[in-house]
Amino acid sequence: MTSYVAALEAPPGYTNEIKLHGPEAFEGMRHAGRLAAECLDMLVPHVKAGVTTASLDDLARTFVTDHGALPACMFYKGYRHTICTSINHVVCHGIPGPKPLKEGDIVNIDVTVIVDGWHGDHSRMFAVGPVKRRAMRLMDTTYECLMRGLAEIKPGATLGDVGAAIQEHAERQHYSVVEAFCGHGLGRVFHDSPNVLHLGKRGKGVVLKPGMMFTVEPMINIGRRDVSLLSDGWTAVTRDRSLTAQYEHSVGVTETGVEIFTQSPAGLHEPHKLVEVA
Ligand code: MF3
Ligand code: CO
Ligand code: CO
Repeated sequence: MTSYVAALEAPPGYTNEIKLHGPEAFEGMRHAGRLAAECLDMLVPHVKAGVTTASLDDLARTFVTDHGALPACMFYKGYRHTICTSINHVVCHGIPGPKPLKEGDIVNIDVTVIVDGWHGDHSRMFAVGPVKRRAMRLMDTTYECLMRGLAEIKPGATLGDVGAAIQEHAERQHYSVVEAFCGHGLGRVFHDSPNVLHLGKRGKGVVLKPGMMFTVEPMINIGRRDVSLLSDGWTAVTRDRSLTAQYEHSVGVTETGVEIFTQSPAGLHEPHKLVEVA
């Protein structure tokens, strides 16, 4: 059974109830989402061959703290970095490190910032060009999956509608949707209810109501959907080591549809498109 609660009356932490947020929360999430998007905008010119993911993490941390915000991941369950950098067959939670990016790599950069207590969680695909056509197609499709999922969001629609739209588009291109990780409610809590699955059946699942806030963050694989966790306890890879991609937005349900909090102010919604196909 789904139950909903006015966010102002809910306890501050994770609960099974879905919080319904008011106008002040939307204002808070606009600031947090914007800063997350500006952080990825800032990184765009830095993602190139020879650059280490650790140096990208340094840039992101400095940017976030210089703007008076906190990097949410740095305090999250022992994670020590500002961003996740998930390269090629890494599905999510890739740890920044000293290995330089090389030509042909595709990388998801995921940042979560806390601004005045509100979380902005956002990721995009970046490419170190030129990249193979199959990599470009995967990234194009993954962005399209995210946007088709978001297009379903309005009061009365369900999370099943969102998941189905994503799954249908991915499977039409013979890709698979990762099941092991999902989107999540957020607000003052980083990972709150509900779970937002990136597959599903139309008309099923949680009914959307104005004031709900969550992420949609589909991970799409060229190969099979199965993932494995590396021994570092974070890095999730495709079990068949096939190429994978992800895009993520933080959104709120409005009276009429959806508000995307993490739109790129610079118009760099799909940085992966900036490189050439090999
Ligand atoms: N930003 C990720 C998400 O979309 C969470 C990363 S948690 C970390 O939910 F600890 F790995 F950084
Ligand atoms: Co994220
Ligand atoms: Co997220």
